[in-house]
Amino acid sequence: MSKTIAGFSKLSKSKKIDWIVNTYFSNSDDAKKIIKQYWNTNEKIQQLHDEFIENTITNYYLPLGVAPNFLINDRLYTIPMAIEESSVVAAASKAAKFWLDRGGFKTEVISTTKIGQVHFIYTGDFNKLKTFFNSVKPKLLSESKHLTKNMESRGGGVLDIELRDKTENLEGYYQLHASFETLDAMGANFINSCLEQFAKTFKNEALGFDLFSEEEKQIHIVMSILSNYVPNCLVRAEVGCKVNELTENDSISPQEFANKFVQAVNIAEIEPYRAVTHNKGIMNGIDAVVLATGNDFRAVEAGVHAYASRKGQYSSLSHAKIENGIFSFWMEIPLALGTVGGLTKLHPLVKLSLELLHHPSAKELMQIVAVAGLAQNFAALRSLTTTGIQQGHMKMHLMNILNQFEASKEEKNILTTYFKTNAVSHSAVVDAINKLRIKSE
Ligand code: MEV
Repeated sequence: MSKTIAGFSKLSKSKKIDWIVNTYFSNSDDAKKIIKQYWNTNEKIQQLHDEFIENTITNYYLPLGVAPNFLINDRLYTIPMAIEESSVVAAASKAAKFWLDRGGFKTEVISTTKIGQVHFIYTGDFNKLKTFFNSVKPKLLSESKHLTKNMESRGGGVLDIELRDKTENLEGYYQLHASFETLDAMGANFINSCLEQFAKTFKNEALGFDLFSEEEKQIHIVMSILSNYVPNCLVRAEVGCKVNELTENDSISPQEFANKFVQAVNIAEIEPYRAVTHNKGIMNGIDAVVLATGNDFRAVEAGVHAYASRKGQYSSLSHAKIENGIFSFWMEIPLALGTVGGLTKLHPLVKLSLELLHHPSAKELMQIVAVAGLAQNFAALRSLTTTGIQQGHMKMHLMNILNQFEASKEEKNILTTYFKTNAVSHSAVVDAINKLRIKSE
């Protein structure tokens, strides 16, 4: 069968599946079985998922776990996390418990401004463009009223529009650089709709602006789009305690642990190779909550990593210090999140996750997500600077290896007990399974 096809999106779901399995799979029956195994038996739920995107053939499951005991600004949370990596939820729970006994996490939203830009080309006199922008600015706002009035009635909307001259870097390139407050919405649709309206008004009004020459009247709009770089939509999360309260591991004194921890953070602050992995650990926590609450993890990832590079070199998002016998560990991170719109009213598990979190506002969710990131980072650095990461990681990974070998319930019981006191490695697990199976033959 040909591997190209016209009009695929117009085929029925079952015809799409037939084409896929017959074109790409040696055993089309097996492939079809796997695809159908993941269909939801509730037709309404399946239809909902079918309609999220184009060409849905099945559902892709991730586990939804929960990490309890998070004390954030004196309120307790159980945090939902959607993630496949074995040790992440366990690490979050451990960090939550650790800080629960030491006053919990303190958080604060620093700012909530989001940015969108109309990128355009104009090759005339800049002073005339400035005059035009100043005269048209009220109209940019008034002609977008039909889009902004609801948001404004709730206290949000367009905060400002600036004209920015970018011609030093690219000939003829200017922007309408707009800032927005989108309250509990992530705001992508709101911002993009406003920007497209600004662009339309801007272009139309230029045609009738008397000071412009005929050529200058032709403003070329290149595109109108929000920015996922949100350095002014920022949240801070922190933990702290007396150094001598950092007890929990006999192998290392609290002082030595605190010193090593701060050194590990200092290394991530100045060494990009380490910073990327360090921040990846933070994103383990952040992405999992962002996904569970139906937010756009690609937007969050892009914005966070850009922020980590804002000083010209990629660096750690978190920081730590010891001062007057007090250990502090904190992070400021940009997070554009929503708790209304998008998937929040559609996906039953997203609704469930938001209810579990006491129906947070976007600001509250920013704080919860930042805490999940900081907790994850704390857990990773604690392991890295004491036992090493593999001990805990492989313990959690044990079940995956056992499942790869299709271990029975009884085999799993025996081997998880055995590996409570023995180091887990892939080869050690394989040896143990083989020995067990030979014994029982
Ligand atoms: C693994 O998913 C994350 C870590 O590598 C993070 C880190 O090194 O800090 C453990």
